[in-house]
Amino acid sequence: MRAAILEKYASDGRELVLKDIPIPDINEEEVLVNIKAAGVNHLDNMIIRGEVKLIVPYCFPLVMGNEIAGIIEKVGKNVTDFEAGDRVYARLPLNKIGAFAEYVAVKADALARIPEYLSFEEAATVPLTALTAWQAFELMNAKKGETLFISGGTGSVGAMAIPIAKSLGLTVITNGSAENEERVLNLGADCFIDYRKENYQDLLSDVDCVLDTLGEKELKNEFDILKDGGSIVSLRGLPNEAFAKSMGMSVIKRAVFGIVGKRYDKLEAKRSQKYYFIFVHEDGAGLQKISDIFSERRVQISIDEVFSLEDVNKALKKVESGRSRGKTIIRI
Ligand SMILES: NC(=O)c1ccc[n+]([C@@H]2O[C@H](COP(=O)([O-])OP(=O)(O)OC[C@H]3O[C@@H](n4cnc5c(N)ncnc54)[C@H](OP(=O)(O)O)[C@@H]3O)[C@@H](O)[C@H]2O)c1
Repeated sequence: MRAAILEKYASDGRELVLKDIPIPDINEEEVLVNIKAAGVNHLDNMIIRGEVKLIVPYCFPLVMGNEIAGIIEKVGKNVTDFEAGDRVYARLPLNKIGAFAEYVAVKADALARIPEYLSFEEAATVPLTALTAWQAFELMNAKKGETLFISGGTGSVGAMAIPIAKSLGLTVITNGSAENEERVLNLGADCFIDYRKENYQDLLSDVDCVLDTLGEKELKNEFDILKDGGSIVSLRGLPNEAFAKSMGMSVIKRAVFGIVGKRYDKLEAKRSQKYYFIFVHEDGAGLQKISDIFSERRVQISIDEVFSLEDVNKALKKVESGRSRGKTIIRI
């Protein structure tokens, strides 16, 4: 099968190599998925540059890519929830990625069924960013009627986080660039702030929860607009000791992240606020709940550009540019 492979970490963003490799075998708990489309994420570039190796160390050669949509071709002996022919999608398990390829062997409990109204390409936009939002909202313990600020909600995380937050009954405020305002309001955002014209920190106060997609440069402001006792979940800030513990990391890594994340631990303590960093993990059951929400609300999907597997490096560069009008997809 054709696959896009990373041969070693490359801080200069060295390119993936396309190769023919054997179709993977499956074990008793896995299924073989014939991949039809794969989502491209900032995470892929971060893995290539070796920026997440403290969180997930990978072995090489590595078939790249973190999220898939496709058709099950074969199921392992112990798999009872799925059968050949099912349309499925997944954020692939942290320790076994490989979406930029024709096939992947994936444990069944990472998978969920694709909502009927979505094509494979549309479906491939969902798992990683929707699970990110889902896992963030669980940590925040966000409740109906509360107010959520999503920084940079015009990107692919926002495209999933906004409809999921609305399904939980939250009031959603977000900011981003003006050209995306209408799309974001159509997704259900209650209020949009053009970040080039207005500072959200001048307009907002006492929000219940913040979903931070911008990290370091904005976290201080985000703490300022958060109410006493409120929660911030950051996707881009620094990991802290609590994160290392939640990932079951070694004592040494806990100590390292303890030092790295101390600044936020101090900030959160001032007004009894809570700071979490997350790294999205596979969760078929959570994704199935997201499928149900999407089927019910008919959430509209925004695709920015579709590339072929041969153009995988162009797709990665496109995502790196950060100028997102929806998701970048690879058609397999
Ligand atoms: N930790 C995790 O598990 C996890 C999971 C998913 C994503 N992430 C991270 O979350 C971040 C966002 O991901 P994404 O896929 O949504 O990115 P994306 O699709 O590139 O979107 C980023 C958006 O942020 C907007 N933006 C940039 N600077 C801004 C500012 N100062 N104020 C307001 N908006 C601003 C951009 O608008 P313009 O077009 O104006 O630039 C763009 O629409 C990335 O860093 C990614 O690595 C982490």
